Amino acid sequence: MFMNAHQSVLLDECLYFFKDKPLFSFIDGTLGAGGHTEALLKEHPEIQKFIGIDQDSDALLIAKKRLNLFKEKIIFYHRNFSEIKQVLMDAGLVTVDGILVDLGVSSMQLDTPEKGFSFLRDGPLDMRMDKRQVLTAADIVNTWEERDLSYILKVYGEEKNWRKVAAAIVKERNQRLFKTTFDLVCFLEPLLREPSWIKKTKIHPLTKTFQALRIAVNQELEKLEFFLKDALESLSIGGRLAVITFHSLEDRIVKHFFKDAASDKVSTSGIGGVFLDKVPECKLLTKKPIEPSDDEKERNPRSRSAKLRVIEKL
Ligand SMILES: C[S@@+](CC[C@H](N)C(=O)[O-])C[C@H]1O[C@@H](n2cnc3c(N)ncnc32)[C@H](O)[C@@H]1O
Repeated sequence: MFMNAHQSVLLDECLYFFKDKPLFSFIDGTLGAGGHTEALLKEHPEIQKFIGIDQDSDALLIAKKRLNLFKEKIIFYHRNFSEIKQVLMDAGLVTVDGILVDLGVSSMQLDTPEKGFSFLRDGPLDMRMDKRQVLTAADIVNTWEERDLSYILKVYGEEKNWRKVAAAIVKERNQRLFKTTFDLVCFLEPLLREPSWIKKTKIHPLTKTFQALRIAVNQELEKLEFFLKDALESLSIGGRLAVITFHSLEDRIVKHFFKDAASDKVSTSGIGGVFLDKVPECKLLTKKPIEPSDDEKERNPRSRSAKLRVIEKL
């Protein structure tokens, strides 16, 4: 098993947005290697209860080891962050002073071939962050209707060749099943490099297909939407929520949720919809998303597409 240490993204920027705020309780919803958690616990000795959530049991093992010094303060939960309210209840808390999620996969996950996240490493076509879940990427590729495959490639992957990729997979799987990441890569890469297919990006041709499958397997966008609503309700007054996203689909969800929650108007949708007054639930601490410095992008290319947005509950 090959593994790279995960470098926490936008770490100083995250610390900055919690700096002037006494934190007695905190939730890291995406513990990963525990990098953000460790830094927060060091900067905020006043923290009494820290909840660390990750849906990947391997990440929890790594984080527990790293955070041993703080073991009296941290409670670890092998859960999805969309279950934040249940987790709070289990921890005996009603609200917390701060919440952070740093979305997506960690370097450990990407670099572990057995998890099947990377098109650069051969492993089972899996992509489950939570191994207790049943659905794998192989299930999607080998059994989903062409129409559903097309949908995820188009919407989650923003793959320009979505129609052709879905059709090619469905035709090929009549001959053989796709079991490994390289089964899919070796089949699709030559097609995606053909001059007649739409080609506009400089990224690896399988990037978008793998993104689509990962988002679908882990229901990433649905979980994020659930989480945002419950996270805002779980904050104490003056509490802050910070979200780091890695692609435009996630960022769009966070941006709109924050904007609506901070607005003093609500729109009734449909024909003849009007704007009604409402009390804003939060204020935006980042009018525009914070992005990594050039230096960070160079040091850690994985940070290139990161965006940080932060709100404070009113
Ligand atoms: C980018 S890493 C976090 C890295 C961490 N901030 C650090 O500094 O080490 C994302 C982690 O979040 C976890 N994760 C992603 N989505 C999740 C969800 N919906 N619920 C719980 N954990 C999730 C992944 O398993 C992964 O370990």
